[in-house]
Amino acid sequence: MLILGIESSCDETGVALVELNTAGSAQRPVLRGHALFSQIEMHQAYGGVVPELASRDHIRRVMPLLRDTLAQAGCTQADIDVVAFTRGPGLAGALLVGAGFACALGLALDRPVLGVHHLEGHLLSPFLSADPPEFPFVALLVSGGHTQLMEVTAVGEYTLLGETIDDAAGEAFDKTAKMLGLGYPGGPALARLAESGNPKAYKLPRPLLRGEELDFSFAGLKTAVWTQLGRLPEGDVQARADLAASTQAAIVEVLVAKSLIALKQTGLKRLVVAGGVGANRQLRADLNQQCARRGIRVHYPELDFCTDNGAMIAMAAAMRLQTGRAEARREYDFNVRPRWPLDDL
Ligand code: KG4
Ligand code: ZN
Repeated sequence: MLILGIESSCDETGVALVELNTAGSAQRPVLRGHALFSQIEMHQAYGGVVPELASRDHIRRVMPLLRDTLAQAGCTQADIDVVAFTRGPGLAGALLVGAGFACALGLALDRPVLGVHHLEGHLLSPFLSADPPEFPFVALLVSGGHTQLMEVTAVGEYTLLGETIDDAAGEAFDKTAKMLGLGYPGGPALARLAESGNPKAYKLPRPLLRGEELDFSFAGLKTAVWTQLGRLPEGDVQARADLAASTQAAIVEVLVAKSLIALKQTGLKRLVVAGGVGANRQLRADLNQQCARRGIRVHYPELDFCTDNGAMIAMAAAMRLQTGRAEARREYDFNVRPRWPLDDL
């Protein structure tokens, strides 16, 4: 069974094809082709994602990406069995493009469609890697809009352990990067600048780090960075790198500490890290070190599948269909859910 996945929730258009062997139910779905277009360059001029421009660009990109994906897999549209798309959460207009396209394609081909939760896509993205995790595990979901710790016992069995009460980790990276004049998207740029800085140079807050609390708070970091920035001598390149490194260290320390608490509380020995911030090298290095000491295995999606992509959407759809957790339907009167809690699934 060939499942097409379409991602359009924010500033990346992703299309992918995953094959699900329906005869051998234990077999992992296999990625047959994927194509991605990132709108980063277009939004850069505005310092952030412009929703209307994002929607329009998804419309422009999705068809050529579909052709590219099918060519990689050596398939035609007629070979597609199910059309999956990101139903939410995300930007309403951007989601509508993917949903509209998926449903139109499903209707034209007379194939069923399936709406997928974007965060479930991130959560299951490590199953695209050569060394996939096994259930159960603790998941640290760190994207531009979400920071959550979940206990995952099976496909669709997600218990929220903790989440941010204000800014997401990715948002903290992006906002502090913006203050440092690093542009958008800030995470990778801040991480790059941090490489030449001293992470201990500035004392920045690590909120909610006392006790066994699993919720996060990153909003205070902005103010602290802003205050420090105001004191920096103009043109002091090293001080800016130090501030970037100190900011990254604060975010990473909180993410690592809370992941360890979640692992301890659940008694689980596996951690899955997913979402854009999961690409952060410092986070990976610290998690690997801390978890190795405790006999905990950490799984990450491949770097290509850390940030938004179509493969994770096709994979999540395939795993839901495989486990009987969802049914694709010939229902084309689509709707989207810009706000959609994962534990609501
Ligand atoms: O998962 P994602 O692609 O999109 C959402 O669903 O939000 O995550 C994007 C977020 C952005 O905040 C971006 O700055 C951050 O991931 N990010 C990083 C890195 N790469 C992407 N943050 C820190 N270090 C990175 N290397
Ligand atoms: Zn995402």
